[in-house]
Amino acid sequence: MENEKLHRSRRDFVKQSTMLAGGIVAMPLMSNAGYFQSVDDTIKVAVIGCGGRGTGAAMQALSTKQNVKLVAMADAFRDRLDNSYKALMDGDEGDVKERVAVTEETKFVGFDAYKKVIPLADVVIIATPPGFRPIHFEEAISQGKHVFMEKPVATDPAGVKKVLEVAEIAKKKKLNVIVGLQRHYQTSYRELYKRVQDGMIGDITSGQVYWNSDGVWVRPRQAGQTEMEYQMRNWYYFNWLCGDHITEQHIHNLDVMNWFKGAYPVKAQGLGGRQVRNGKEYGEIYDHHFVEFTYADGSIMNSQCRHIKGTYSIVDEMMVGTKGTVKCGAAEISSKGKTLFKFDKAKENEPYQNEHDELFAAIAKGEYKFADAENGARSTLTSIIGRMATYSGQIIEWDKTLNSGISIQPQKYAWDAPPPVLPDANGFYPIATPGVTKYFS
Ligand SMILES: NC(=O)c1ccc[n+]([C@@H]2O[C@H](COP(=O)([O-])OP(=O)(O)OC[C@H]3O[C@@H](n4cnc5c(N)ncnc54)[C@H](O)[C@@H]3O)[C@@H](O)[C@H]2O)c1
Repeated sequence: MENEKLHRSRRDFVKQSTMLAGGIVAMPLMSNAGYFQSVDDTIKVAVIGCGGRGTGAAMQALSTKQNVKLVAMADAFRDRLDNSYKALMDGDEGDVKERVAVTEETKFVGFDAYKKVIPLADVVIIATPPGFRPIHFEEAISQGKHVFMEKPVATDPAGVKKVLEVAEIAKKKKLNVIVGLQRHYQTSYRELYKRVQDGMIGDITSGQVYWNSDGVWVRPRQAGQTEMEYQMRNWYYFNWLCGDHITEQHIHNLDVMNWFKGAYPVKAQGLGGRQVRNGKEYGEIYDHHFVEFTYADGSIMNSQCRHIKGTYSIVDEMMVGTKGTVKCGAAEISSKGKTLFKFDKAKENEPYQNEHDELFAAIAKGEYKFADAENGARSTLTSIIGRMATYSGQIIEWDKTLNSGISIQPQKYAWDAPPPVLPDANGFYPIATPGVTKYFS
């Protein structure tokens, strides 16, 4: 009885919060086509990109209440795929390993591996570096599959445009799409969002968002690697693959302000550089960015992101409204020093698991509830105009950028093909320079 009540209220909450999640789906809809239609109730999953997140997302999918089976795996590299398979089989996470139905015949490697796994699945998990997201998402939707894809969803304006087009097709086909901006699936953020929508802080007039940290891994060059293989292994430091850390990580915080405001910036200007992390192993990305984003109503989002060891770390969002302030990390809303709402952190959920719980529950019931791709693409573009602003030192406008056709992808995906950026004789890559780098004449 108690359980049923809990389930019912959870269902109701999910219905409401879905609309909040991406801010896109008008109403949950029943689907007639393109849905999970196995003869039994098995929901077949394929994973593309078997690294840290792909493996984690696969485990989460296999830990849901539905009858989910992992049937196929794709990675650019055999060793990455093998490590992931081993982690799934060796882990002590519930009955995950019993749900792994991947055979030697359904493991695929290389740039084309995604094409081979998508036909085998009902749901596709896409967790490669983000440069590939537009082509993988397009293929999954064209084959009528539901998608869980990681953020960001592109690294350049042309990629964002493609994802927006495919998002429309996904909506027409009523295919559920969740983007791994997990704060949308986190209880504290949903509770804060609800109150901000109800007017507790009035109209948002400014915000501060941060991802300041030590930085991430480096994968050193190995003897015998082609330049393409080196960049694919050390992908974080190449923009065509990663988009710089303002896109790869800071998107989470930029996205929160977009979500709470219900809008996207119209322009950005800012500054940044690579002051400390400037060796050749760090490719072409900056180690800090500070961007001022302006929304159509004149409100401002100030954004900081930094990858420098030994500096102050903060990953958070705060927004100021005409009647109060919301601090997301503290999960608190206040006005003139008085607390209006404080979320009880003991009630926090595990948002990564919740993304999959909600996705697979909807798919099993034949419901169309999730259309996150459009918001994922627009929050990705927010981070990209930020990067273009710090790289150029110019004002970068949203519409002009979205319609610019700017692509930083290679002509060809092959191990012996040249990536779009190449090192000089000393192994250093060209670095964007404000005042010199230009995107628009
Ligand atoms: N939502 C979150 O909090 C969160 C956390 C971590 C990572 N992520 C995102 O997940 C994605 C992957 O990050 P990660 O940390 O797992 O990186 P990773 O390097 O551990 O894994 C990426 C995997 O993709 C593979 N790959 C590269 N190109 C491929 C291609 N064309 N086809 C198939 N496989 C390919 C790589 O070989 C690697 O195994 C990134 O977009 C990242 O931003 C999100």
